[in-house]
Amino acid sequence: MDQNALKRQVAQAALAYVEPGSVLGVGTGSTVDLFIEALAASGIKLAGAVSSSERSTKALAAAGIAVLEAGQVESLATYIDGADEIDPRGNMIKGGGAALTREKIVADLAARFVCIADASKCVDVLGAFPLPVEIIPMAAPQLIRRFAALGGQAAVRAGCVTDNGQHILDVRGLKISDPLAMEAEVSQWPGVVTVGIFARHRAKVALIGAPEGVRTLN
Ligand code: 5RP
Repeated sequence: MDQNALKRQVAQAALAYVEPGSVLGVGTGSTVDLFIEALAASGIKLAGAVSSSERSTKALAAAGIAVLEAGQVESLATYIDGADEIDPRGNMIKGGGAALTREKIVADLAARFVCIADASKCVDVLGAFPLPVEIIPMAAPQLIRRFAALGGQAAVRAGCVTDNGQHILDVRGLKISDPLAMEAEVSQWPGVVTVGIFARHRAKVALIGAPEGVRTLN
């Protein structure tokens, strides 16, 4: 099975976590695109969705699903999104698609984060995937120095402006053995909008697509 088939498999499996009539939090990425496709084909009726990006908003609207602003809901039962890396405890690196800030905002509204990912995203320790960090552009040189002090090589992602009008740093060479501590530390550096470590908002459920079938981690 190729990676796309594995993504399609978990996109389909995620339908079991969608409560009909609810407002659903929807993430961003190629796996989520397949989930939106599966949701549209499933006939499940939602009251609406809160989207984490312009990309997902367009896909949801094209699928005939009403998109609500985050401010229109006080909470969500479930948020469904992909990941760039996930460890056995459900800690994740996200932001490969540059949507990490809105993803964290919508995840924060939700009681349950359901991660959908193919097995290539599973790691023991986060950090092989370059860590995305959304930043205010004027802070870039100082933030690059701060990451260098932690042993990371940070570079501004070329040609990338986020939905929030900001830039992304990609940080290579970090071994994130304590995701919660690193998320807390980096989040308070001046100029950081959002760090792509999702430890405070880790996945409560992970649906992992593998050739032998979907594995569920709780
Ligand atoms: C976007 C993300 C995505 O969830 C992550 O990049 C995974 O993407 P894909 O489903 O395309 O592999 O964090 O900001």
